[in-house]
Amino acid sequence: MLAITLSALAVLAGLLPTALAQTHTDCNPLNTTGCPDMPALGGNYTFDFNKTMSEKIWTESNQGSVDRRDDGTTFTIEGSGDAPTLKSTFYLFFGRVSIIMKAANGQGIVSSAILQSECLDEIDWEFLGSNTTHVMTNYFGKGNTTDYTRGKEFAMAAPQEDFHNYTLDWTAERIQWWLDGKMLRELKYGEALGGKNYPQTPMNIRLGSWSGGDVKNNDPGVVEWAGGATDFKKGPFVMTVREIYAEDYHTAKTYSWANMDATGDWQKVKVVEGKSESLEEAQKPHGVKNRIMALSQTAKIAIAGGVLGFVLILSCFITICCVKQRRAGRKEFAEIQAQEDKEAAELREYKNKMAAGHFGYAGGNRV
Ligand SMILES: *[C@@H]1O[C@H](CO)[C@@H](O)[C@H](O)[C@H]1NC(C)=O
Ligand SMILES: *[C@@H]1O[C@H](CO)[C@@H](O)[C@H](O)[C@H]1NC(C)=O
Ligand SMILES: *[C@@H]1O[C@H](CO)[C@@H](O)[C@H](O)[C@H]1NC(C)=O
Ligand SMILES: *[C@@H]1O[C@H](CO)[C@@H](O)[C@H](O)[C@H]1NC(C)=O
Ligand SMILES: *[C@@H]1O[C@H](CO)[C@@H](O)[C@H](O)[C@H]1NC(C)=O
Ligand SMILES: *[C@@H]1O[C@H](CO)[C@@H](O)[C@H](O)[C@H]1NC(C)=O
Repeated sequence: MLAITLSALAVLAGLLPTALAQTHTDCNPLNTTGCPDMPALGGNYTFDFNKTMSEKIWTESNQGSVDRRDDGTTFTIEGSGDAPTLKSTFYLFFGRVSIIMKAANGQGIVSSAILQSECLDEIDWEFLGSNTTHVMTNYFGKGNTTDYTRGKEFAMAAPQEDFHNYTLDWTAERIQWWLDGKMLRELKYGEALGGKNYPQTPMNIRLGSWSGGDVKNNDPGVVEWAGGATDFKKGPFVMTVREIYAEDYHTAKTYSWANMDATGDWQKVKVVEGKSESLEEAQKPHGVKNRIMALSQTAKIAIAGGVLGFVLILSCFITICCVKQRRAGRKEFAEIQAQEDKEAAELREYKNKMAAGHFGYAGGNRV
């Protein structure tokens, strides 16, 4: 049994998708009508990841910590189940994205920076914490994971040691992956199953890390793929994103699925003209909260110390007087809880699909 497992893995090692496809979408426009319009970036913007950005354009998951620091935004894995992520609420409909980042170290830790659409088109950069010699590139069209020849790995200096520039340039004709100004890979429309598997619907930016080597939560095949079991005592494992330049190749307000059908063809995406609210939000000066979050750790502690005394006094007040307020608080808490449950369910679904063989781990690898 073990022998079968190992040989199956050896075979897979050559064929394996270098990245794992995302498997969840809230509303799949290929078989559902009325999926919501998507805000367009509609222009270009450089996001400085050492500043806190508007929650209206970058949303964070509640699983694991995402923090702004002087050298960028960190995605930290400290224990089993952590999977910190950040995704843009804006979408690009063809475009260019340059991500300046440093991958997380740690056996079994997977770092990723991807573009993904609501019908599961996907373009990926992915890194294994224990692989200090290669970066992985991959793509998926309409969530089709039935073959494992799309992923390609490229040799590079340890992605966990330094910041590098990972650029995706995506048009209707071709996708290019650039590393530090050098083109590693180009995929032409026709090469992706005559275009059928070619990513071509509006995508947002998704960043994050997770522990494929978390033996408590993953099947042995997944742990093996991720480079082995994660020893959380050796953590925390930190991925850092310093900057992202994003350019939308359409000028638009939103993208709509109104004309979409099961083909998923880009010609059926409706471009709604107008001023982009995302771009406007990005260009706005940051609020007070943002400025505090951009301060150094020491400054934050100092401020927190001062604030704490005040908060203690205030909280007595609130406890006594403001029952109504507390009810609202409970409601907010329930909403956060619901969001956390939803995210946990998404992660479970993702792992189940992996375990079920959607990624090439079928059968033999269950020791
Ligand atoms: C739409 O397709 C997805 C992916 O194949 C599937 O998971 C989902 O259940 C389908 N939804 C409906 C309403 O058919
Ligand atoms: C980015 O957008 C600005 C206008 O907002 C424009 O002046 C500039 O040329 C654009 N840069 C690129 C590389 O497209
Ligand atoms: C953010 O990084 C830039 C360099 O990329 C640096 O000049 C700036 O001081 C940093 N900002 C903060 C708040 O650390
Ligand atoms: C890193 O990935 C490359 C490409 O798949 C592979 O040849 C190499 O053995 C890997 N190294 C480690 C330490 O896993
Ligand atoms: C998914 O991709 C495989 C391999 O490229 C192909 O044979 C299959 O027809 C595709 N499935 C769909 C539904 O397009
Ligand atoms: C990143 O690489 C792209 C592609 O080579 C280049 O156009 C861009 O200027 C680079 N960005 C930075 C910040 O170096």
